[in-house]
Amino acid sequence: MSQSITIPRPDDWHLHLRDGAMLAGIAPETARHFARAIIMPNLVPPVVTSADATAYRERILAVTSADFIPLMTLYLTEDTDPADVVAAHKGGIISAVKLYPAGATTNSASGVVNFENVYPVLEAMAENGIPLLCHGEVTDSEIDIFDREAVFIDRVLDPIRQKFQGLKVVMEHITTADAVAYVQDQPENLAATITTHHLVINRNHILVGGIKPHYYCLPVAKRERHRQALVNAAISGDKRFFHGTDSAPHTDDAKESACGCAGCFTATNTLSILAHVFENGSALQNLERFTSRNGPGFYGLPVNSDTITLVKSDSPVEYPAKIETDAGPVTVFDPGFPLFWRVVQ
Ligand code: DOR
Ligand code: ZN
Repeated sequence: MSQSITIPRPDDWHLHLRDGAMLAGIAPETARHFARAIIMPNLVPPVVTSADATAYRERILAVTSADFIPLMTLYLTEDTDPADVVAAHKGGIISAVKLYPAGATTNSASGVVNFENVYPVLEAMAENGIPLLCHGEVTDSEIDIFDREAVFIDRVLDPIRQKFQGLKVVMEHITTADAVAYVQDQPENLAATITTHHLVINRNHILVGGIKPHYYCLPVAKRERHRQALVNAAISGDKRFFHGTDSAPHTDDAKESACGCAGCFTATNTLSILAHVFENGSALQNLERFTSRNGPGFYGLPVNSDTITLVKSDSPVEYPAKIETDAGPVTVFDPGFPLFWRVVQ
């Protein structure tokens, strides 16, 4: 008899949907399996006001199934108005605010240079229970790219959390054992998302045997021992760790370039990959905590009442190598091994 597992419908706690033709082409890949997703605001121009978030939400709803719920975020800048943030959260327009250190990643030019300039916003967020979602990398040119997450914890995140002790913070897409240890050591107003791809690849996958642009993302994948720390955190069931794909589509010509964009597109096959990872870790029973329970717990939302079922097949699951969009083709993340867990609705 084939093996199967039924879990509450998952959410994606960190997702890039883009806009226009790309949005229309890739949004259904997420809406097919996920009930809700935290939508990243790094559009060009970014989503900085509650009016921007309202308009972007409408554009998402126009291209997704009726039961998909986008949970909107605002892009924190040094000009962000604390009152607008609080009103947007109270009005149910946004679920969180995203902090990009300026220059850290794709479309982060409007991000924060001087963190003290956003203290009034952080203070208002702490008072009103609004989560801060951090792209946790420093951008100083003298800091090695593989050390930027660990240095961010010491130099930026910990001082902010000391100053605003009630602030709810999510360290997004963590990539290091240092981040896992930091989260485990802190009170429950700190949590972390872990991506699908960081559970699968280490830096060798990007660089050995020729450079693999579709494995390049930010924060960049680290050594194997860090990947193992992420897997152990994810499969542990610990409520402070939950799934955010960071699925970040770029067209193939933007990825396969002399200066390729950062981002792995995992929306299409992410649940099959996660089931594989959790089964390998003998922790399938904890998959639902990671995908469906821990995130709502942190955000104070109900667990989805409907379910999805994954069935393990004898033959590999087929999925498209690329999603063809009107903006161009987007390559689907290749985990490097066959997948046997198939999502059945
Ligand atoms: O790899 C990434 N891609 N990391 C990010 O932080 C941003 C994202 C994107 O927007 O493409
Ligand atoms: Zn992201």
